[in-house]
Amino acid sequence: MAAWDLHVSVDDLGPEAPPLIISVTSDLHIGGVILKLVQKTQMQQDWSDYAVWWEQKRMWLLKTSWTLDKYGVQADARLQFTPQHKPLRLLLPNTCTLRVRACFSAPLLQAVIDICRVLNIRHPEELSLLKAPEEKEKKKKKEKDEGGEEIFDLTAVVLGSAAPSFYNGVPAHFFDSAETEAVYKMLSVSQPTISPELMAKMYRPSSLIDKAQINSRWLDSSRSLMQQGIQENERLILRFKYYSFYNLDPQYDAVRITQMYEQARWAILLEEIDCTEEEMMLFAALQYHIDKLSQSSNPDLKPSQNQALEDLDSALMNLEVKLEGTSSATDTLESITDIPELKDNLKLFRPKRLTLKAYKQYWFIFKDTSISYYKSREEAHGEPIQQMNLRGCEVAPDVNLAGQKFCIKLLIPAPEGMSEVYLRCENESQYSQWMAACRLASKGKTMADSSYQSEVQNILSFLTMQKSNPGPQITSEENINTQSLVSPRYHKKYKAKQLTPRILEAHQNVAQLSLTEARMRFIQIWQSLPDFGVSYFVVRFKGCRKDEVLGIANNRLIRIDLSVGDVVKTWRYNNMRQWNVNWDIRQVAIELEGNVNVAFSCVTADCKIVHEYIGGYIFMSTRSKETSEGLNQELFHKLTGGHEAL
Ligand SMILES: *[C@@H]1O[C@H](CO)[C@@H](O)[C@H](O)[C@H]1NC(C)=O
Repeated sequence: MAAWDLHVSVDDLGPEAPPLIISVTSDLHIGGVILKLVQKTQMQQDWSDYAVWWEQKRMWLLKTSWTLDKYGVQADARLQFTPQHKPLRLLLPNTCTLRVRACFSAPLLQAVIDICRVLNIRHPEELSLLKAPEEKEKKKKKEKDEGGEEIFDLTAVVLGSAAPSFYNGVPAHFFDSAETEAVYKMLSVSQPTISPELMAKMYRPSSLIDKAQINSRWLDSSRSLMQQGIQENERLILRFKYYSFYNLDPQYDAVRITQMYEQARWAILLEEIDCTEEEMMLFAALQYHIDKLSQSSNPDLKPSQNQALEDLDSALMNLEVKLEGTSSATDTLESITDIPELKDNLKLFRPKRLTLKAYKQYWFIFKDTSISYYKSREEAHGEPIQQMNLRGCEVAPDVNLAGQKFCIKLLIPAPEGMSEVYLRCENESQYSQWMAACRLASKGKTMADSSYQSEVQNILSFLTMQKSNPGPQITSEENINTQSLVSPRYHKKYKAKQLTPRILEAHQNVAQLSLTEARMRFIQIWQSLPDFGVSYFVVRFKGCRKDEVLGIANNRLIRIDLSVGDVVKTWRYNNMRQWNVNWDIRQVAIELEGNVNVAFSCVTADCKIVHEYIGGYIFMSTRSKETSEGLNQELFHKLTGGHEAL
């Protein structure tokens, strides 16, 4: 067989070095090519991570037993002999930048799994990588980047296939040096708030189209980084992509929960997701609380066993609160002993039911964790008009001292969403008793709890504080940076001195929470927002003339009118018979039960991304405890259309 010259550039010879020329025959296999290359370089080094990359075809020649002929390599090919693992700069959910060594030759899913293993994040299938937005003034920005920003580095960490060893839940590789310990702290401790000036510079999507643009930047899970044109040291964004969080456990998920909290916090601060004013104040209070605890707690790499147990306890308690209405052993115990009750005339107002903004008086009885109300005191032995169980509900004050308005706002979980109720009290003492009872009940506690009296006192003293001289007292107590805790919309609407008392008052609700509890609570409230976990894409439905928006969530697809933002139609995955992509015309087709067929093409993103999103969520729904140990990558690629795309 005739020999011919093959041109291969070798990374380690430097960018200016001419390619090596080796004499080959077409039946030489790739392993033989590598052997010749290594000999030709005359360099003694570890070549084991190196592989052959074919730039023109954008493919790796990884099968060392395949011949040049089988790969179709001829004399015009320009090959590159390059490491499969290269450094990447990752922008994490907490806005820190971390350098890691990533695999550029395996499908992205595998690369993300490896990265998450180094970071100690379980369930890596929930995360993925996005391309960073195009930088306009590239040079200027780069200089600024490298000047001001601290870059954390984990590129020295290379994990073998063996299971890592842990000390107190922290993988051993974080104990390598002071630098890696600092990286672990960065990953697992919440970042302090940034100034409103810096926040104002961060990108905020202002429309559905903006939100859809973000989703056009997701990388393809089935192809390697190199195949997708990612360069060594390129800046990519690591984020939770699928809003379907499996089995969150504070004992094992310190980094995962911290980064999830950070992603949630930025989604709220940058108005990627809408929330009400009350919710914003609660989020602000939780952030304030988390900041305070993160800074005061000396984040020790080796947490005491007690701390871990405490965190677990509190997380479990939190879960119990969530399971509203379920009775536990403590309930039965309490019902035997005497539980104090509150009985009084209060005024009730339901904003959603009555168009007339009027409060109506009823006779109220607060018992256990429930409030019942009756037409009058005389009718209190009969059936109540309604009974509301306050476990797991949100309690917010609606107080105006000057107007002598003492209202308690309750957001009670109901099948059709949250039901909103206002209770109006007569005066401060009545308000503080009922408010304290509501707060305890929301946490699943009754007035028999030892904290009841101090809670009443707290509320009273907070009212007094506001009344006497709010300004100096609050600044002397705490100098809080309110503008960094709420989204720009609210720091335009309110002055800092208006926000401070509201955030501090909301803080009273959460001041007892541990750090882990507070982060979990933040994530839970984020998850309960109406638009939580919807990823948007601009699409064009078959037979329609105008662009519309497709929202993809963990259990449904949502068709949204682009001009007004209204939901037009919802399709649940469990009503879906099948879905596929016609790659020739790049159209996604979905068949639903009842012979309903929909098809659309994708405007803002490649339809591979949309297909992968839908398939990814269906994959998430197949997970169970047994399979969570080893991720079924083959099934993931099958469901997300990895094969068709290749
Ligand atoms: C507050 O209102 C309750 C109920 O109307 C009343 O019984 C109580 O005397 C009032 N307390 C004060 C201090 O005005």
